[in-house]
Amino acid sequence: MSESSQTGRRRFYLSFIYGLWALLSAALTAPALVYLLLPPKLRNREDWVEAGDIDKLADHVPLELTFRQTRRDGWKLSSEQRTAWVVKLGSQVVAFGPQCTHLGCAYHWEPKGEFLCPCHSSVFGPDGRVISGPAPRPLDRYESRTENGKLWVRALKESEPTS
Ligand code: FES
Repeated sequence: MSESSQTGRRRFYLSFIYGLWALLSAALTAPALVYLLLPPKLRNREDWVEAGDIDKLADHVPLELTFRQTRRDGWKLSSEQRTAWVVKLGSQVVAFGPQCTHLGCAYHWEPKGEFLCPCHSSVFGPDGRVISGPAPRPLDRYESRTENGKLWVRALKESEPTS
């Protein structure tokens, strides 16, 4: 066998080994880079889920709906039970997160027409604004939309502090 054909073969094997090494490195590094460089908000995606029937929802009379939502965090999928207080305000339907914006206690609807948090007595109107108490901001809202008498919700958005 001539020396030039041995050199050619050696070059071919070296190129093949380096190419394979580069391919394996890229396959191992790419997921780590995606995890490290993408902001958490892009990784924690929540899809639209049907929260329930709102056909019989009366104006300014909240209804508590329970639904399951799948949360995607990187490659991990988890299914969680969630609740929302849903209120019809004229032509608009709003879905509030179930926790008080003070320290996160569960609040409830009072027949006199307001949401009351029993922990430190924050009171919210049917539209979620703070009426009294230490709560620093209105109730948080789910992104929501209605379709054929059903309410669909997505991520819970934090409300802006009351100025
Ligand atoms: S947690 Fe609701 S008022 Fe404090």
